[in-house]
Amino acid sequence: ELSPIDKAKFVAAKRAVDFVEDGMRVGLGTGSTAAWMVRCLGELVREDGLRIKGVPTSSRTAELARDCGITVVSLDEARWLDLTIDGADEFDQDLNLIKGGGGALLQEKIVATASDQMIVIADVGKEVEHLGHFPLPLEVIPFGWQTTQALAEEMLISMDVLGRQSSLRMNGAAPYVTDEGNYILDLHLNRIGNARQLAMVLNQIPGVVENGLFIDICDKVVVGFGDGRVEVRD
Ligand code: A5P
Repeated sequence: ELSPIDKAKFVAAKRAVDFVEDGMRVGLGTGSTAAWMVRCLGELVREDGLRIKGVPTSSRTAELARDCGITVVSLDEARWLDLTIDGADEFDQDLNLIKGGGGALLQEKIVATASDQMIVIADVGKEVEHLGHFPLPLEVIPFGWQTTQALAEEMLISMDVLGRQSSLRMNGAAPYVTDEGNYILDLHLNRIGNARQLAMVLNQIPGVVENGLFIDICDKVVVGFGDGRVEVRD
C-alpha cells in the first residue's frame, strides 16, 4: 500500500507514459517520481513490446532503466529526442520549474532542451504561485567554488533576491559531487520576481555551469493527487 505522496507520484508517472509512442527516443528524468515513470515504461517494454530508446539524465536513472529492460543510449547517439519525462521540485502556472533537488539538473536541462516535448510529472505539493521557496540549485565547478559562491551572493543581493545566503550541498562530511564532477550550491532565495532574468544572470558568472531554473522548457505538467486523481496542465 503506497503512502498518499507516493500514490500521487505513481499516478502522475503512469499517466505520463501514455504519451510515449512506439519508436520514440525518450529522455528519462531523475528522482523518485521519475523512477516510477521508468518502472512503468519498463513494464510496457517487457509486456507490450514497446520499442523505445531511453536517454537517462543520471547514472542512477541509467542503472534503473537497464534493470527495467529499457534500451539505453547516450544523448550523442540519439541526438534529438521526441519526449522527455522528468520530475521537478517546483512548478508554476507558466510551467516554469525549479529542478535539481536530486542533483541531476545539468544533464536534465541538456536532455530536456534536446527534446521536442518535455512533460513534468509531480505531486500536487510541488505546485507554487511563485518559484523560489525551494532552494535553487546552482551547479559550479570545484575550482574556486568559494569565489564563485561569493560572486553569486553579491549578484543575488544586488538583485534583492538573496534570502539567507547559500550553502554547499554536502554528502556526509564531503561535498556532494554531481555526475559531471561538479559541486552544487543551494541558493536560499526570497521570492523570485523575474526567473528568466535570474536564470540568465546566474549563468554569466564564471564557474557556474548551470542553474535549476527551467524557463519555457516544459510543455505539460501531469499532476498527481494522493487520492489517485490526475490533472494535466498545459
Ligand atoms: C533531480 O535532479 C531533480 O531535478 C528532480 O527532478 C527533482 O528533485 C524531483 O525529485 P522527486 O521526484 O524525488 O521529488
